[in-house]
Amino acid sequence: MRIEPVIQGVVARTAHPLGCEQAVLQQIEYVKSAKPITQGPKRVLILGASSGFGLAARIALTFGGANADTIGVSFERGPSEKGVGSAGYFNNLAFKKFAEREGHIAVNINGDVFSDAVREQVVEAIETYFEGEVDLVIYSIASGMRRKPGSDEFWRSAIKPIGDAVSGATIVLENDTWVDTTLEPANDEEIDSTLHVMGGEDWESWIDTLINNESIAPGCKTIAFSYVGPSITHPIYLDGTLGRAKIDLHQTSHSLNLKLANFDGGAYATVCKALVTKASVFIPGLSPYMLALYRVMKEKGTHEGCIEQMHRLFSDKLYSHTSVPVDGERLVRMDDWELNPNTQQRVREVLAEMNGSNFQQMGDYAGFKAEFLRLNGFGFDGIDYDADVDLERF
Ligand code: NAI
Repeated sequence: MRIEPVIQGVVARTAHPLGCEQAVLQQIEYVKSAKPITQGPKRVLILGASSGFGLAARIALTFGGANADTIGVSFERGPSEKGVGSAGYFNNLAFKKFAEREGHIAVNINGDVFSDAVREQVVEAIETYFEGEVDLVIYSIASGMRRKPGSDEFWRSAIKPIGDAVSGATIVLENDTWVDTTLEPANDEEIDSTLHVMGGEDWESWIDTLINNESIAPGCKTIAFSYVGPSITHPIYLDGTLGRAKIDLHQTSHSLNLKLANFDGGAYATVCKALVTKASVFIPGLSPYMLALYRVMKEKGTHEGCIEQMHRLFSDKLYSHTSVPVDGERLVRMDDWELNPNTQQRVREVLAEMNGSNFQQMGDYAGFKAEFLRLNGFGFDGIDYDADVDLERF
């Protein structure tokens, strides 16, 4: 069948397997030509490995000099009568193919990270493929819900402000429109549920599981990703439900750091730059800021994608010093270029002029949309999008 991009709201409903393969390949080529990651980890577990930061981290550590073997957990859909399959599903296949071709172990576990069954599979895979121990655990889950342990009920995250309503705009990728929105504040239950889904609880329980199973290697590190952003984004992000969950994640990093100190290792919440991913386009009110940020950082030559961020994280921060460089709150800052004062001054100027009729010119909407399409395998040169794809091959 011929596969075309189908976007519903801000959600991609189709993905192109050959384009996804191309996206993985381009990231591999980038890290191969970049400064090598030296002293990197050899056995890495990535929770949330199929897209965004998790996939980029997996690629950087496998192909960027560390030659890591990896176990990747993700929750993706393969082709079925319901649809062609998700981009992450095809990314996983492509990654495995390229990694194994170069002699690296690449185990994909497709299932719910919050379930006991996946935990058991991971512990077994660590025994089988990693001689029982991991050197790095990357927690890169972005999820809208989490099943409550031992129950059929779910916690659902709500992306809302806390305290007061916030006005903003969301850009609907389906029809390129700007929609002014007012987000009502979250109630206590929504705040609490978001904390369970996106806070540090599950990260901590994964590390506890690995400690209890004696799967932690000497010197093992763990990281999880966070976002802080400039003050203009705080009403919707840092001061809202997601920010509350991220602050919980930061606190979790301190308790995990104490636990891993017993293994001469450490735990770090890593603050990344705002980037187009399946998860981030879903955040209401954030897209105008991202359009302005993309334009300004590209103009200044400081724009990075997920792969550049992950490569710089491992080559310059996590594995290049005897102690990991952190800020006063013990956070690893990969958002340093985003938060550069000149960059933010310019972003504020652009945003002050941006509105529903000029956002495509004022911001880098073309770049934003093209990146979203590429995440789903569309828009790559050299791929014949008119040709039929045999989905039975995947
Ligand atoms: P993404 O949507 O590209 O990746 C999320 C990953 O989680 C995918 O591999 C998906 O399969 C996996 N996943 C989701 N639910 C799962 C489940 N129940 N079981 C197993 N796997 C599951 O998202 P992105 O943006 O890479 O987010 C990763 C982390 O980075 C999140 O914590 C996010 O808050 C953080 N972050 C993202 C930023 C951005 O601008 N995109 C900026 C700073 C931090």
